[in-house]
Amino acid sequence: MIILGLETSCDETSAAVVRDGKLLSNATAVQLIHSDHGGVVPELASRAHQRIIIPVVEDALRKASIKKNDLDAIAAVYGPGLIGSILIGLSFGKGMAMGLGIPFIGINHMEAHIFSNMIEEPRPSFPFVNLTVSGGHTQLVLVKDSFESELLGETLDDAAGEAFDKVAKMLGVGYPGGPLVDKFAAKGNAKAVKFPRSYLEEGSHQFSFSGLKTSVLYYLRKTGFDKTAHGNDVFVSDVCASFQAAVVDVLIEKLLTAAKKYNVKDIAVCGGVSANSELRRRLAWEARMNHVKLFIPKLDFCTDNGAMVAQAGYERMRKGFISNLELTAEPNLQMN
Ligand code: KG4
Ligand code: ZN
Repeated sequence: MIILGLETSCDETSAAVVRDGKLLSNATAVQLIHSDHGGVVPELASRAHQRIIIPVVEDALRKASIKKNDLDAIAAVYGPGLIGSILIGLSFGKGMAMGLGIPFIGINHMEAHIFSNMIEEPRPSFPFVNLTVSGGHTQLVLVKDSFESELLGETLDDAAGEAFDKVAKMLGVGYPGGPLVDKFAAKGNAKAVKFPRSYLEEGSHQFSFSGLKTSVLYYLRKTGFDKTAHGNDVFVSDVCASFQAAVVDVLIEKLLTAAKKYNVKDIAVCGGVSANSELRRRLAWEARMNHVKLFIPKLDFCTDNGAMVAQAGYERMRKGFISNLELTAEPNLQMN
């Protein structure tokens, strides 16, 4: 069974081919156009998806050495995300499935992220606790089976990736924020500034990052930081490292607390922030110390990608979950 997966929910246009659960190709075009604006501009994102979706799909088919007539089904994300962006991949996927006379499968983007740890071996065993940390979401999920999961907690305000992006903006380090904060932090002292860790009440599975973000803002004001001045490098690196350490502490503590509470042996982390080098380093260490097995995608599959959509599509197809072609984009689609 050969599945084409399409991901266009935000600013990555990505397509991938999976054959019988094995990844054959993944082609991703990152939209650089947004860097001039310091953040994703929805209208520009949809136009860019429209322009590049055909070359990206052709690239994925070519890399997989298959022809479109070899496909058995097409999977595409129908939410959550930016409506104009989702509509491009969704409409393209439905149209292509209809043209080829094959099934179409609508995929929840958050469910797809969880599948990013199932693209390659080894895969986590059910049940496991999954932490999704992306630009729009921070979610702790108990994954009981392929399509059976329980949302344990999520952020009450900013998502982890959003906090990285906003802090990057305050520091004037550029866009995209997360990877740049990560890069500066590598040269900084994480103990330079004691930023608050928001754990909320004892045992809570919820998150909150807006207090931390505000603390960074107040600290920058108090120190008279000027992001346009040169020679700030050591200061910026120290703030990045200290902020990053606060985020990482909270994410790991909450993930391990949930893993203990639900008595699982496997833990998984996914989403754009799972590319963060300090988070990966600390997770590897803490998993060993706490005798749990850690699953984290390779870098290509942390941020949005077609491979996770194709893999989720393959599983859905195997279980007979096919979508109606009347399926519409749902920008606020929930987890279950
Ligand atoms: O999963 P993703 O590609 O898109 C969404 O579904 O939101 O996540 C994008 C987020 C952005 O906020 C980006 O700044 C963050 O992931 N990110 C990182 C790193 N790479 C990407 N955050 C921290 N460190 C990184 N290395
Ligand atoms: Zn995502």
